[in-house]
Amino acid sequence: MPEIACINGEFCPLAEARVPIEDRGYQFADGVYEVIVTRDGEPFLMDAHLDRMARSLRLINLPLDPRALGIPQWINAGIERCAFAEVMVYVQVTRGVAARNHNFPDGIAPNVILTFKPKPVYPVKLREGGVELKTLADIRWARCSIKSIALLPNILLKEQARQAGGFDALIVDPAGIVRETSCANVFIVTEQCVRTPPKSDRILHGITREHVLDCCARLGLMAREEDFTIDDLRAADEAFITSSTMDVMPVTRVDDRAVGTGQVGEITQRLAACFDAEFPLVESRRN
Ligand code: PDD
Repeated sequence: MPEIACINGEFCPLAEARVPIEDRGYQFADGVYEVIVTRDGEPFLMDAHLDRMARSLRLINLPLDPRALGIPQWINAGIERCAFAEVMVYVQVTRGVAARNHNFPDGIAPNVILTFKPKPVYPVKLREGGVELKTLADIRWARCSIKSIALLPNILLKEQARQAGGFDALIVDPAGIVRETSCANVFIVTEQCVRTPPKSDRILHGITREHVLDCCARLGLMAREEDFTIDDLRAADEAFITSSTMDVMPVTRVDDRAVGTGQVGEITQRLAACFDAEFPLVESRRN
């Protein structure tokens, strides 16, 4: 089954999809994106992703409504067409095509592209044994809550971590405060309390992060959105990272040292299991 793309509503095989090289996404990384996966064939938490995309668009002064653009219909149509068991949908909106000039051009239309690929499957070894993170300094910009397509710092960090033998970079600020990884949010568990950095411009406000906090509420687990340091993480009983493609991924080592027992923790396992149970979002946490 071929991977497919959708460019402004027109579907085609991914290998045939083309955008002009003067798309501002290509020239300036002038755009935002979302990654949405399916669960039992349905887009998972799509509304939350569309809301976050609307926010990202507003914050780059491209105040378009993803729903009015037709993105939900294209997502559903693409999932049906590609017929993969579980799908990873990439959605990107750029300011559009114009002669290269830093100023915003007048009167251009945005380019909305979607790609549909099989949802990545992570090796059981990682799920059962956990991954290792490598601590690296934050070299990103000051607006990390915008899901910008400008990911050069993130990919440089991830590659540096990989070359050092890690799975991902653990991004830490100069004061030792843990932010997130190059592509996921971070959680620790200390004395039965789940902690994750609060929403701010220093992290992406992950949809999976939010869902895991909802899972905590559902399981009756204590959970706090508060900053913690790299020392707190080293002393934690458990750690894990979250993203749309990974769900809950256990972290068992940081910089060559075990976290907790060095095994996947019990609360991490409970949250990973709970994650799979579809349930209405807990309203009290929404407001
Ligand atoms: N990455 N933090 C960063 C920097 C991310 O890039 C991501 C997602 C997350 C987790 O967000 P969510 O739970 O909404 O997926 C946190 C996506 C999957 C990517 O770039 O491929």
